[in-house]
Amino acid sequence: LRQKGVQDINETDSQKQLNEIRVKLLGKKGPITEVLRGMKDLTPDERPKVGAFANEIKQDIAQAIETRLTELNKVALQHRLQHETIDVTLPGQPVKTGTPHILNQMIDDIEELFVGLGYQVIDGPEVETDHYNFEMMNIPKNHPARDMQDTFYITNELLMRTQTSPNQARTLEKHDFSKGPLKMISPGRVYRRDNDDATHSHQFTQIEGLVIDKHVTMADLKGTLEVLAKHVFGEERKIRLRPSYFPFTEPSIEVDISCFACGGSGCKVCKYTGWIEVLGAGMVHPNVLKNVGVDPDVYGGFAFGLGPDRFAMLKYGINDIRQFYQNDLRFLHQFQQEA
Ligand code: PHE
Repeated sequence: LRQKGVQDINETDSQKQLNEIRVKLLGKKGPITEVLRGMKDLTPDERPKVGAFANEIKQDIAQAIETRLTELNKVALQHRLQHETIDVTLPGQPVKTGTPHILNQMIDDIEELFVGLGYQVIDGPEVETDHYNFEMMNIPKNHPARDMQDTFYITNELLMRTQTSPNQARTLEKHDFSKGPLKMISPGRVYRRDNDDATHSHQFTQIEGLVIDKHVTMADLKGTLEVLAKHVFGEERKIRLRPSYFPFTEPSIEVDISCFACGGSGCKVCKYTGWIEVLGAGMVHPNVLKNVGVDPDVYGGFAFGLGPDRFAMLKYGINDIRQFYQNDLRFLHQFQQEA
């Protein structure tokens, strides 16, 4: 039994087999247990001898199992190490990295331009008051211009800002002109109750610009806008100024950029005219200055509000504004920045 047992044990090549042998030889129904159980029928003389012998066999077998188990474990480990070796010289799997949203890239680029021109960048709340969004910007209650900016109201006084222009009033209020002129831009999200289509989104972005000093003229505004257009679109892009109306500027202009995204007739973005409006601007209305306690007879300047969404659509030939807000990674990854 001992010999056969040890031989069987040494021939096993899996832990499962080994366990089966253990149960067979040492288990409750195994031969050794049976011998030990039969001890009661033996004479007192025989008992210690048989008992000792049976226990000896039992121990030997247990020992053999233990040894084989260690061997098997070693083999298994060897096997695993061989199969799991890593070739560290293989090229790695590229890790997909994120990228700044194309609108943020556009905003960053424009911010950088203006910071270089000595502007400060300021932030304002997206949940704005009627007071700053409209009243301070010379748009009193019942003014027809409120219709131009169909508003999401939260309460009678609180609303989602329809423009970044309230940040003109917010910075002007705090500015100390004895320390120098005010030059600022203010980028951010704005909201309007528009029906979404290829060129309208109820959420979009604006960058406000404001320069107030003594002796600022419309020529300064025009020069600044030309620098901006060329910076973003390149030298060859044409811009067109049209007279317009905003309650907070006088005179007011709108700026169009020649449309090359889809070109000529049949172009959704440019509404078949070959031009797309990207910017409103003008000379700051005296009432806006009065509202913040700045003397319009001494100080004056220009303001503009541009749309990074439309800038990006034009620059990259994106024909649907809704794509900026749908978070489709296939769209967003096209604008992966170089690391
Ligand atoms: N706030 C205006 C708009 O949203 C744009 C604008 C800003 C016009 C500053 C003039 C001066 O349409």
